[in-house]
Amino acid sequence: MNIQTAKRLNGIGEYYFSQKLREIDSLNKAGKAIINLGIGSPDLPPHPDVIRVLQEESAKPNVHAYQSYKGSPILRGAMSGWYKTWYGVELDPETEILPLIGSKEGIMHICMTYLNEGDEVLIPNPGYPTYSSAVKLAGGVAVPYEMVESLNWEPDLEAIAASDLSKVKLMWVNYPHMPTGQQPSADFFKRLIAFAQQHNILVCHDNPYSFILNDKPMSLLSVPGAKEVVIELNSLSKSQNMAGWRVGMMAGARERIDEVIRFKSNMDSGMFLPLQLAAAKALTLGKDWYDSVNAVYAKRRELVFELLDLLNCQYNRGQVGMFVWAKISPAYADGYALSDEVLYHANVFITPGGIFGSAGNGFIRVSLCSPEEKLQQAMERIRASLPVAVNS
Ligand SMILES: Cc1ncc(COP(=O)(O)O)c(C=O)c1O
Repeated sequence: MNIQTAKRLNGIGEYYFSQKLREIDSLNKAGKAIINLGIGSPDLPPHPDVIRVLQEESAKPNVHAYQSYKGSPILRGAMSGWYKTWYGVELDPETEILPLIGSKEGIMHICMTYLNEGDEVLIPNPGYPTYSSAVKLAGGVAVPYEMVESLNWEPDLEAIAASDLSKVKLMWVNYPHMPTGQQPSADFFKRLIAFAQQHNILVCHDNPYSFILNDKPMSLLSVPGAKEVVIELNSLSKSQNMAGWRVGMMAGARERIDEVIRFKSNMDSGMFLPLQLAAAKALTLGKDWYDSVNAVYAKRRELVFELLDLLNCQYNRGQVGMFVWAKISPAYADGYALSDEVLYHANVFITPGGIFGSAGNGFIRVSLCSPEEKLQQAMERIRASLPVAVNS
């Protein structure tokens, strides 16, 4: 039989981490016991009250049916309350919030909802690889905008405005930025909204990292006039340690929510009610929760800085989020070369910055989702096996 995949898959590879995890798995089977400092999947558990709600609710007999396409009113209410408490943004829980099965699916839903064949979408370079794959899968054309450290990893809006934007319909932005850990400035957010209004572009802001090692969570929706031109995605994966639960949300004007529901309601059939109720609980956790999680990440980050010193990398200590982004030593051709050297000689995996786009080639990214003992062990291995890298 000659089975051909659809043309839309041309140029779409398997997701980098899905491929790399397979390689790490086979190295592990060969006895290497790789320390994986790659992916940003929190290793800490959710708050015990959240687990309790899931246990209690799932033991009930009447919670197992299909759920509403737009989510339980309790969850939508909690999401709206969370936006008000932490971002100072008012969202009508009835019409301006849509629970998602993780924010990653929201990226695809938005692209499928708005893009026609050939429509252009501005995407960050470096940036989360899913933006470009989702754009391509939906038939759009990803137009990367390159960002540099000297401009605080912000898009050069003037340069973008000077290019032909006639086919651009959407723009993806993500602050705190993954992978660079750059925080947004209020001034940049204002300029971004003005740019979107001027060029009639729908800005899709992906905001999953605003609580990690960051005292000032910011929503793009807090800028006056933003609701006209912005959709924001958010997630419980990182801030509530619930990555495997798959709970995220989309926030925006009623019209945008209705438009995306037209697509999404054809894709899934709602989320398990006990999970939604437990997620609602997670969104009511107070500052103590975020402080306790961040205290752990802060200690780990100091160790990651040390590890990066061993590899002669340079980094900004003021970055936020769940990773540390670092410029590699000129002794290596690029981040892939350094990542391979560390993987094959020290049995430690760190992410090459190039997977986030060409502007990330000279960088690596280290995740904070490993306990301190693992980070210490990774450093011991690096010291033992890469003596050339150490303070050369
Ligand atoms: C920038 C960015 N956006 C979205 C996601 C997806 O998060 P979720 O677990 O909510 O689908 C990730 C996950 O790594 C991410 O780094």
